[in-house]
Amino acid sequence: MSTEKQATVRRITAPQIAARKGDAPIVALTAYHANTAAIVDRHADFILVGDSLGMVVHGMESTVGVSLDLMIAHARSVVRGTSRALVVVDMPFATYEESPQIAFRNAARVMQESGCGAVKIEGGARMAETVRFLVERGIPVMAHIGLTPQASHVMGGFKTQGRDEDTWPLHVADARAVAEAGAFAVVVEGVVEPLADMISAAIDVPTIGIGASAKCDGQILVLEDMLGFNDWVPKFVKVYADIGAQIDKAVASYADEVRARSFPGDAQVYKSNRK
Ligand code: KIV
Repeated sequence: MSTEKQATVRRITAPQIAARKGDAPIVALTAYHANTAAIVDRHADFILVGDSLGMVVHGMESTVGVSLDLMIAHARSVVRGTSRALVVVDMPFATYEESPQIAFRNAARVMQESGCGAVKIEGGARMAETVRFLVERGIPVMAHIGLTPQASHVMGGFKTQGRDEDTWPLHVADARAVAEAGAFAVVVEGVVEPLADMISAAIDVPTIGIGASAKCDGQILVLEDMLGFNDWVPKFVKVYADIGAQIDKAVASYADEVRARSFPGDAQVYKSNRK
């Protein structure tokens, strides 16, 4: 990074996000590329380079196949394209669960090689020791509880959590465990509204909801979902623009014009100096 860039870049930090509990709602979106991240950077408090990129960008069936190298490549691109928002990077499956030491080594690699400001890991009470280990060694951690996509094979799919009230204490205990271990925020995914409310009231760091109602301290969506890239839209997603349909229309027009030899037209053709 040049001295000039060092002087001008003032990103939102993890402690600043933590301090937003009870304040104005926190705005977050995912981004995987420099160009879309640059747009999101103008509006969001933090940008998540989510491992959902495995499914959204690389056509995988779940996030389980995403590698650390893939996350780092996309994270570098997002960091390069942004200057304001905190960039949080997902630790992919099998890079942090085995031991706090392995988690530290991999999370440190993500931070050093991408320049991001924090990492996110999935899991509640079972990951609390790891959260503490990372935070004590200088790595800000966002936790992720409720529906945890990396555990979809164990959960039997992407299933809404907390429909059965008996399970609520376990989810609240998960949130407390990671918050007390030092997580600066907790993503709460795919839970029923009263449970989201209960979790948000139980911890003193912000909850960031996705499919978890407005009873959270902030919201996150996958950018491509809210831009209408997919035929199937989950219940919790609102489609703010139908970009998928616009791309389809543009590509169809291009194809028609190439086939009709009307593109490139006069305006797109270089001219020689000959009079
Ligand atoms: O990978 C991702 O995009 C996420 C969000 C769903 C929070 O973890």
